[in-house]
Amino acid sequence: MKNYNRMPENFLWGGATAANQYEGGWDEDGRGPSIADVLTGGSVDKERRLTPPAPLPEEFYPNHQATDFYHHWKEDIALFAEMGFKVYRFSISWSRVFPNGDEETPNEEGLKFYDNVIDELRKYNIEPLITISHYENPLHLSLEYGGWKSRKMIDFYLRFAKVLFERYKGKVKYWLTFNEINMLTQDFGAVFCAGMLDPKDVCEQSRYQAMHHQLVASALAVSMAHEIDPEFMLGCMLAYHNGYPYTCHPDDILYAQQFGQIHNSIAGDVHVRGYYSGFAARYFEEHGIQLEVLQEDKEILKKGTVDFFTISYYSSSCVSVTKDGEKTAGNGSDNLKNPYLKASDWGWQIDATGLRYVLNQIYDRYQIPIMIVENGLGAVDQLTEDGKIHDDYRIEYMRRHIEQMKEAIHDGVDLIGYTCWGCTDLVSASTGEFKKRYGLIYVNKNDDGTGDFSRIRKDSFYWYKKVIESCGEEL
Ligand code: BG6
Repeated sequence: MKNYNRMPENFLWGGATAANQYEGGWDEDGRGPSIADVLTGGSVDKERRLTPPAPLPEEFYPNHQATDFYHHWKEDIALFAEMGFKVYRFSISWSRVFPNGDEETPNEEGLKFYDNVIDELRKYNIEPLITISHYENPLHLSLEYGGWKSRKMIDFYLRFAKVLFERYKGKVKYWLTFNEINMLTQDFGAVFCAGMLDPKDVCEQSRYQAMHHQLVASALAVSMAHEIDPEFMLGCMLAYHNGYPYTCHPDDILYAQQFGQIHNSIAGDVHVRGYYSGFAARYFEEHGIQLEVLQEDKEILKKGTVDFFTISYYSSSCVSVTKDGEKTAGNGSDNLKNPYLKASDWGWQIDATGLRYVLNQIYDRYQIPIMIVENGLGAVDQLTEDGKIHDDYRIEYMRRHIEQMKEAIHDGVDLIGYTCWGCTDLVSASTGEFKKRYGLIYVNKNDDGTGDFSRIRKDSFYWYKKVIESCGEEL
């Protein structure tokens, strides 16, 4: 009998980051500002604030320096290699390559940074997995064109993507077109996913129009990429929402199904099947959403379907038609608490079994390879006097999720990789804190501005190294 305790030998183990949360160097070597550069710091109780058109001198902007990968890339990649990473997922800062976003030619200095990163990864045989757009629209495109509700964004995005595909052909195989495109079903997505800074655009009409433009841009990018290099593998990326029915009342069961259809499958179906499903049309109709869809869009969507499906998965929640019950925090959703689950320091409910459930659900629906490109525990870490971080809580979280990945593979799911989120500590997207740490590598940088960016291997670093070495057998 096959040994399901061991993951496939070619399984892509690794870690993931995003440029705006990790790189820093926000105004170096010709980089232009992105929307993340006008987002102030925040905390669990204090929302991050936008200050366009520019940063204010009296405010703190954590993404400006982030955890300074821009000056630590060699050191960090060496640490990834030491852990045995097979893959590293990162995003390219659009405004480092096109400072305003609408120029004709790219910023060579910005591209050189990524040349170095990619060459360094290749030196260690680490496969780069590039997210083309991860929560950082160039600020100019937001101010001048209103972000993704404008169809013009499609051309700017394609120009950017083309530069990357042509330059990194032969060096990069795996690409993701947009990070968590389905966050556009929620208010949070208006700014983060679509760079729409006008508060009037925090509405379904603008959000779904922006999503449509991104889906078209994604499909065009997929077709273009396959023409440039048929070896390229293009994926979509969804924040996978796992909302269980709060009760077994049929109304709650139906509501949970509809919740999944709206928050996961509208975008997922277009990415994989190339068309909007019937429930999407009904939802748009019943919510007064009038999408502007050009005749040619249908053909574009049909042609540009993705090769693999990726998700972020951190937690689950419950949903109910009555909405009665205690609320829980989570990745972008404010649903109901599940009495059977414990939660993280930030109130995100921990549900490893839910990962198996979700992987089966996706595979049953689409039958294409799946990668988990974000998973992990945002927690407060204590640096001990002798310079160590004993993060057994993080190890426990990851261990339980990896166990469920094995179960899913045994169930027949074609799971090809796992990149834990924020493998090196970085700025939290939702709260703007440094204190919410996900890393296996600690970065000495704090919310009060102190810290010298030095790196320390946490206990989880040594643990993950063994996991990779043993192909998941030693958990
Ligand atoms: C995902 C994003 O939604 O969740 C990441 O793709 C983000 O950018 C991650 O950092 C974790 O969320 P947070 O708010 O804890 O940083």
